[in-house]
Amino acid sequence: MNRKKILVTGGAGFIGGNFVQYMVNKYPNYDIYNLDLLTYAGDLTKHREIENKDNYHFVKADIADREAIMSLFEKEKFNYVAHFAAESHVDRSITEPEIFVETNVLGTQVLLNAAKEIGVTKFVHVSTDEVYGELDFNPTTFFTEETPLQPNSPYSASKASSDFLVRAYHETFGLPVNITRCSNNYGPFHFPEKLIPLTISRVLNEEKVPVYGDGKNIRDWLHVLDHCAAIDLVLHEGVNGEVYNVGGHNERTNLEVVKTIINTLGKSEDLIEFVADRLGHDKRYAIDPTKLEKLGWNPTYTFETGIAQTIQWYLDNKWWWEQIISGEYQNYFKRQYLFN
Ligand code: NAD
Ligand code: DAU
Repeated sequence: MNRKKILVTGGAGFIGGNFVQYMVNKYPNYDIYNLDLLTYAGDLTKHREIENKDNYHFVKADIADREAIMSLFEKEKFNYVAHFAAESHVDRSITEPEIFVETNVLGTQVLLNAAKEIGVTKFVHVSTDEVYGELDFNPTTFFTEETPLQPNSPYSASKASSDFLVRAYHETFGLPVNITRCSNNYGPFHFPEKLIPLTISRVLNEEKVPVYGDGKNIRDWLHVLDHCAAIDLVLHEGVNGEVYNVGGHNERTNLEVVKTIINTLGKSEDLIEFVADRLGHDKRYAIDPTKLEKLGWNPTYTFETGIAQTIQWYLDNKWWWEQIISGEYQNYFKRQYLFN
């Protein structure tokens, strides 16, 4: 079988990082290129076990740097692109929206253009259910691929804008693309600014856990490895131009999630602290994944099995999240890649 070259953007982040490991281990005859700018969310310590494998390669670059991206594509002639790189945190988009436009919109356009110029086999754009806006609390309503885009935060607006660019490159230039829109992920190597890893690390440190508003907002949780399997399937089998929703019917209120973690760790619910609500806080997300299931995907984790595995992972891997919280992880790149 021919060796394929797969570019994974954002492969030092949470989901891209899990995807890089999944692909490096599953496809020894593919070359996996992890391209990442190493922003605050980028961490290479997570790849200690794969960084010396022959089929893993790291490139430090900004997806919005047109010249650097074009010359990389011309040199490497990638077969596939799995595009994860983004500014991903809603709270940060409320205080610093500009970088979300630069990275998520301009960066995606730069990648699309380079992919068009060299003629890739497939460009998978990893998007989010947040582009659909919010649902009310009626449990029979779901986001489908036909739901109109009504993003409410600067983050989701920037992701929706990038989705439109991906669609336009397909319609205008015939670029073979897919867009995936996944619900909230959780699992190993989740950056502790997000609800689940923040709660686990705070509870383990006996610190207060901030719950926005009344804690009744609902998210639809999917284990990150189920998301990785979905991207792998879409990369290889997705019908060009199609959008696929990814989700596993695991709706929980934020308060349920936080209480599950506290109770699993045997700590007191007094650690919960209700704080001011997020501006424009979406009430509920819920995904209808029927289209992806018809392509052959099914999640392997329930919320119960996934959250138990995740809590255990954080117990077993304190070394990882403690050096993320202290900031020490940012020195790893310099030690491993610049001075070796
Ligand atoms: P993350 O914030 O953990 O990781 C993002 C990565 O992108 C980091 O490694 C960062 O260094 C890199 N990056 C940022 N700007 C860059 C730039 N200009 N050039 C190159 N690299 C850059 O994000 P995540 O949670 O892993 O999300 C990955 C993707 O999945 C995003 O596109 C996000 O919108 C989407 N998504 C996330 C979730 C979720 O629950 N986390 C759910 C659905 C979709
Ligand atoms: O739905 C997919 C999206 O999920 C992705 O596109 C985003 O990149 C990802 O960050 C995530 O967005 P959310 O805003 O849903 O995730 P977050 O972990 O920030 O918040 C989850 C819920 O918990 C949300 O309702 C806000 C609430 N929350 C969050 C934090 C950080 C709290 O109550 N307290 C907190 O401290």
